[in-house]
Amino acid sequence: MLSRRSFLSASGGTVALMALPATAIRAEAAVAKLIARENAVQLLPSSYPETTVWGYGGQAPGAEIRVLQGDRIQRQFVNQLPKASSVHWHGLRAENAMDGVSGLTQDAVLPGENFEYDLLAEDAGTFWYHSHNRSAEQVARGLHGPLIVDEPAPPDVDRDVTLMLDDWRIDPETGQITLDFDAPHDLSHGGRLGNFISTNGEAAYQLPVKRNERLRLRIVNAANARLFTLGLQGLDGWLMAYDGMPVPSPEPVPETLTLGPGQRVDLFVDVIAEEGEEALLGRIDQSKGYVQASFPVSGSASANRRPAPAPLPPNRAPDLTGLADAAILRLEMSGGAMGGMREAIWKGSSRNAGELMENGQFWAFNGLVGMTETPLARLSLGQVARMTVVNGTVFPHAMHLHGMHFRVLAKDGTPGPLRDTLLTLRGESHEIVFAADNPGRWAFHCHMLSHAASGMMTWIEVTR
Ligand code: C2O
Ligand code: CU
Repeated sequence: MLSRRSFLSASGGTVALMALPATAIRAEAAVAKLIARENAVQLLPSSYPETTVWGYGGQAPGAEIRVLQGDRIQRQFVNQLPKASSVHWHGLRAENAMDGVSGLTQDAVLPGENFEYDLLAEDAGTFWYHSHNRSAEQVARGLHGPLIVDEPAPPDVDRDVTLMLDDWRIDPETGQITLDFDAPHDLSHGGRLGNFISTNGEAAYQLPVKRNERLRLRIVNAANARLFTLGLQGLDGWLMAYDGMPVPSPEPVPETLTLGPGQRVDLFVDVIAEEGEEALLGRIDQSKGYVQASFPVSGSASANRRPAPAPLPPNRAPDLTGLADAAILRLEMSGGAMGGMREAIWKGSSRNAGELMENGQFWAFNGLVGMTETPLARLSLGQVARMTVVNGTVFPHAMHLHGMHFRVLAKDGTPGPLRDTLLTLRGESHEIVFAADNPGRWAFHCHMLSHAASGMMTWIEVTR
């Protein structure tokens, strides 16, 4: 075998290296790899077999990516999967070319190939990263992980805890993910729900805590379609941020809190359960309660609770001063089971329900199924848009806008908190406003990934 020294001289590498400026060498060495690969992991409790997942670093969820606000996220994505893939940085207002949407902002990265992601983490907050090529399959197989951008001055909490909530559809006999990603019933109903629910990839996530300890809980709904309705027990505190964006003043955590797929919240909670008790993050499902994460209490961090927290420092607010003469847009959702969609336009021509169904297409935005040649809207840089989103179906949907956050207008027109994903229930209608302040081609789709795959996908273009 060649030693390193003899390899260098044999290949003439020494000379070539010395000719390169030192900075180029350093930059190359600094880029961390994000390797997507198949791997067997103990996802289910230990009495079950290992599960083969597709994961970043072979793990599901993938390792937390964590940077400081203002830093760049630089990763060499290495695709060791058997299928093409790409990486989307959900919620980051970053450069369009780095948004990771295959077919819109880049080509999918083929097996064995690489792609250099390099994007600015402008906003501090709780984000996540996931595959954006055949996402309904790839995210369900495990290709997602938390992405945390830290504030320059750490907020006053004792612990910072990320909780990725997810569900998996697993055959309990074999322990393997069922490969039914295109099942028409899931596509046309509420999406592909799992039968195994996890927190950070564990069935029974537990974190020992102390009484009066203050935790920052960063909760991410990473599931393909499940809504998580959550409540606290033995924990009390404040809602600090939605979808990575701080609220101007901390709000008491509501009794129940529902997160649609893709949505996040940051909570600051104090452990108020007594020593020896267990504090809980609970999940409510069809009016039954389940433990989503448990926090056994031993010892005490202090004699009393801390005072109420200061708000998190705000991220750059979009400029909505042009709201009075905003571009008026409308997004009408139709289709799905019991939706009575007779026909819609798919790939440029009108199709009846039968033809659509044969092609696994069940949903439409404004009568258009799936990606179109022309965007839903073309906005000029800085323009403000006001969009009515009408859910004319009998299912909930979670509309995610890439590249920009929006505000939901209350009935009286007051703008609500900044969000990147809108949960809309059957028959609901919302008005959202956003500033088209990020140039490029931005995906806008339902984050119930089976719905995105079967029609609920469009895009918005912001031109310079
Ligand atoms: Cu979280 Cu278009 O995705
Ligand atoms: Cu949907």
